Amino acid sequence: MGNSELPPKEKWDGRYGAAAYEPDKSPVPLLTEVVEAIPPGRALCLAAGCGRNAVYLAQRGFEVTAVDISSRGLERCKERAEDLGVRVDTVVADLLSYDLAGEAFDLITDFYYYEPELFSPVREAVRPGGYFLFQTFSIHHAGRGWGPQSARHLAQPPLVLEAFQHWRIRLFGDLDIDHSDGDRTESVVRLLAQKPPRPAAAAD
Ligand SMILES: C[S@@+](CC[C@H](N)C(=O)[O-])C[C@H]1O[C@@H](n2cnc3c(N)ncnc32)[C@H](O)[C@@H]1O
Repeated sequence: MGNSELPPKEKWDGRYGAAAYEPDKSPVPLLTEVVEAIPPGRALCLAAGCGRNAVYLAQRGFEVTAVDISSRGLERCKERAEDLGVRVDTVVADLLSYDLAGEAFDLITDFYYYEPELFSPVREAVRPGGYFLFQTFSIHHAGRGWGPQSARHLAQPPLVLEAFQHWRIRLFGDLDIDHSDGDRTESVVRLLAQKPPRPAAAAD
């Protein structure tokens, strides 16, 4: 069985648990570009991995919960947060069955994990006026020879936009990004959407 065919927990625990694995500690550039526009509050990082984005948000004053199926990734996230003197709460869970009902986050992030069934619970769990920030490989990445290639893991840009059609779209992109090392390009879809604020109660 190739590594990519393993169930996700085994696959990602194996990767993050390897002694030689060096996680990327830099937050996704999109997050650093938009964070100024988002007031600090309660944030939920979906599929947080080793926590590069969760730790960054905690450093920016957010109260952060990081969820991932990999306990090994979240252990690394927790260690890094402690080393930097910030707090990140971690939850080991399978997002396919994780219950977001009744939650109210000011910001939910999802970087490089594509599961369209999550869009509906995300729409519920962001509080009015709050944000959803998303970036992952798109269908245009297929054939590049690295990264995910299966259609199941590649987002269809119009469907991402459609899922948030009733929200205010602050940023949307269907683009290719050249890596700074110069020899790789990734095709991604990105979105920053703001949930409409609750309408003010009618005056008597
Ligand atoms: C490509 S990594 C991205 C990690 C992180 N978002 C980042 O950008 O550094 C995908 C992540 O999704 C997590 N994952 C995969 N399937 C999952 C599931 N069913 N539930 C929760 N997390 C899952 C993996 O453990 C892994 O950390």
